[in-house]
Amino acid sequence: MGEFVVRGGRRLNGTLRVHGAKNAALPIMAASILASSPVTLEGIPKLRDVDVMIDVLTALGAQVRWENTSLIIDPTDIHEYVVPEEVMMKMRASIFVIGPLLSKLGHAVAMQPGGCSIGDRPIDIHIYGFSQLGAHITETDQGTRLDGPSLNPGTVHLSYPSVGATENLMMAAALIPGETRIRNAAMEPEIVDLAQFLEKMGARVRGAGTPDIRIVGQSELVGTRHTVIPDRIEAATFILAASATGGQILLENCIIEHLPGLSGRLRDLGVNLVEKDGDRVLVDAPRTFQTTPVSLHTGPYPGFATDMQAQFMAFLLGVPGVHVVSERVFENRLGHARELRRMGAQIIADQRVALIYGGRPLHGSTVKALDLRAGAALVIAGLTAQEETVITDREVIERGYEDLDGRLKALGADIDCR
Ligand code: EPZ
Repeated sequence: MGEFVVRGGRRLNGTLRVHGAKNAALPIMAASILASSPVTLEGIPKLRDVDVMIDVLTALGAQVRWENTSLIIDPTDIHEYVVPEEVMMKMRASIFVIGPLLSKLGHAVAMQPGGCSIGDRPIDIHIYGFSQLGAHITETDQGTRLDGPSLNPGTVHLSYPSVGATENLMMAAALIPGETRIRNAAMEPEIVDLAQFLEKMGARVRGAGTPDIRIVGQSELVGTRHTVIPDRIEAATFILAASATGGQILLENCIIEHLPGLSGRLRDLGVNLVEKDGDRVLVDAPRTFQTTPVSLHTGPYPGFATDMQAQFMAFLLGVPGVHVVSERVFENRLGHARELRRMGAQIIADQRVALIYGGRPLHGSTVKALDLRAGAALVIAGLTAQEETVITDREVIERGYEDLDGRLKALGADIDCR
C-alpha cells in the first residue's frame, strides 16, 4: 500500500473545484440497470469505488465506457443477477445493484457485504424492505437470494433511515408499476439526486428529501442524461483543511446548504464562510482560535454528517478548549482518535464518544488510514503538525478522494505521495 507524506505549517490558499459526489454516483450508476436504453452520466468522479462499480455492472452484462468526462452505461444486455463475491467484498456499495436487478430480472443474489472498520454494516433493512414488496428471500451458499418474478407496490416502514436501504428500495420501486411508499426514509441530498435521475427515466417520485417518499413505478424506464450533485463531504474536507491551517480558499461547485451543522459551527469559531454566486463558497479562516468548547453528535441528514466527523475532529485539535464528539450512526467510527494520539493529540475515546483537548501542538508520526474519512482526517492533522507525517494505506483514502495530494499541493500544501 502507498503513503501520503505531509509536512505541516503551510496555510492553504487558492481556488478548488469540488468534484461530483461519490455517494450520488454509486447508486445512480446502479440505477442505470433499470433503463431499457443507454444512460450518459456527467460529473462522475474518477475514484477506485467508481472503478469497482464499473466492474460490477460489466460483470452483470452491461457495456460501460468513458467518453472524455462522460460515463456511458448501456444496460440492454444485462442478463446476470448474481453479484460476483470478489467485488461484493471489495465494496459494500455493490449492494445497490440488488434492487434494480430484482425489479428488472426478477432475481438477485449477493453475498452479505463484509463489515468494515467502522461497523458491521448489516443489510437487514434492505432485505426487510424487499420482502415487503413481495420478494422471497433465501440464504444460499452463494449468498442472499432474492426472488420476485412479480413484485407488488406497497408501503415500507424503515426501522432506521438507512441511506442505502432507501436508495435500494427507490430503485426497485421505480420499475414496479403502481405506488410504493417508503416511510422513515433517509433525507440526504444524494437521495434527492437519485430521485431526479429516476424521474428522468420515467418514474414519478414525490417526497425525496423528506421521511415520506412515494414512487410511482413504470413497466419500462428509458435511458437519460444526468449530472450528479457536488460531493458535499469532499467540500467539507477541504473547508476543514483550510480552516485548520488558517487559510483562505475559494471552492467552486459547492452547495453549502448540503452541509448542515458545519457552516454554523465554523462561523461561531470565527471562520468566515461567504457564499458567492454560482455555487462558489469563500473560506477565510483565522490563524488562531479563541478558547471555545465544541460539542457535536452525528446523525442522519440533516444532522451532522458522520462522513465529516473525523475531519472535524482533526480540525478541533487546533481549537483551544475541551470538545465532545459523539458518533451515533456507526458503532465503531472513532478509530482515527488512536491514530491522532500518535501525533500528540490529547483525545480520550471509546467506540462512541471522544473527549478532545484542543489547542495543543501536533508532531509528525507514521499513522494509518483506517477508512477513507479517517484517512482524510490524518491528512488535515498532518497539514497542521510540525515536521513530517506519513499516512499509510493511501489507497483507502483514494477510494473517495480523486488526486487529493495534487489538489492540496495546488493550494500550497507540502504533500507528496509514494
Ligand atoms: C451511506 O452508507 C454512505 N455510503 C456512507 O458513506 C455514509 O456514512 C452512510 O450512508 C451514512 O450517511 C454510500 O452512500 C455509498 P446507512 P450506508 O445504511 O447506506 C445501519 C463514505 O464515507 N444499517 O445509512 O451503508 C448501519 O450499520 C461512506 O463515503 C443497518 O443496521 O449507510 C449504520 O450503523 C461511509 N441495517 C447505519 O444503519 C441496514 O440494513 C447507517 O447506515 C442498513 C444500515
